[in-house]
Amino acid sequence: QDHLITATQLSRDDIEAVLDRARRIAADPAAFADRHAETVLALCFFEPSTRTKMSFDTAAKRLGADTIDMGTVESSSVTKGESLADTVRVIEGYADAIVLRHPSEGAATLAAEFVDVPVINAGDGAGQHPSQTLLDLYTVRENHGLDGLTVGIMGDLKYGRTVHSLAAALTNFDVNQHFISPDSLRLPRSVRFDLHEAGAQLREHTDLEDVLPELDVLYVTRIQKERFPDENEYHRVAGQYRIDAGTLADAREDLIVMHPLPRVDEIAADVDTSGHARYFEQAHNGVPVRMALLDTLLEGTQ
Ligand code: CP
Repeated sequence: QDHLITATQLSRDDIEAVLDRARRIAADPAAFADRHAETVLALCFFEPSTRTKMSFDTAAKRLGADTIDMGTVESSSVTKGESLADTVRVIEGYADAIVLRHPSEGAATLAAEFVDVPVINAGDGAGQHPSQTLLDLYTVRENHGLDGLTVGIMGDLKYGRTVHSLAAALTNFDVNQHFISPDSLRLPRSVRFDLHEAGAQLREHTDLEDVLPELDVLYVTRIQKERFPDENEYHRVAGQYRIDAGTLADAREDLIVMHPLPRVDEIAADVDTSGHARYFEQAHNGVPVRMALLDTLLEGTQ
């Protein structure tokens, strides 16, 4: 069974196939409207979400599929103590694929061991968020292509699961990656190991200005307050990496600024109208990219 658990499982060919399909879908969505009319997609979100959940819901419906929603943890039988394994074993009887977001790293891996339908990891704690990476790459590709680029990834690199997935996926392309963060929020050891194994050079900075003029893409992330074991530590680093239109004065004219969203205060509103902003376009790309992903994963199940 095909699952999407981590971006490290994706080859360049896998990524390009999904992005090519997403482009075809974006150009002619009607051609894909009834492809999965008999399909049910389960949305199992043990953590809050706006973009991922709603764009998977929209994507499924635009493919002709139905969706079922577990609801919040509080409104489900998880509050009665039901395990993740039992929850997904029950839900696979109702659905043809499961989209899972969970606060524990490794939750999607575990879920996939218990079911025979595709599991899509929609974020497992501070681990991975591979479907976000596909829409991130789609956005980069539509603006700049995916080779010969210099990409800066800034903010919470320790707990940011979108960063972990994106950094891994970018090793498939001719991309120089720069990582900009406070010392306490550098990439975790496991991600550093994966990058090393993939032959990527780790270029780390504490100051954006050291690298900003070289960048084609600046990918900004939120400091993940909910992951900090010590809230005082969060307050020590919160607000250190904010950008506004003035910050970008030394940037290339065609620099694109991305963010997986939600943002708190790390990108000022004046960037929205600066010509660099792509984060809303990026969020909207979630629909054709997730349609392409579902279409790919469900192909083998029909
Ligand atoms: N980018 C992202 O995962 O957003 P949500 O938490 O709103 O799904």
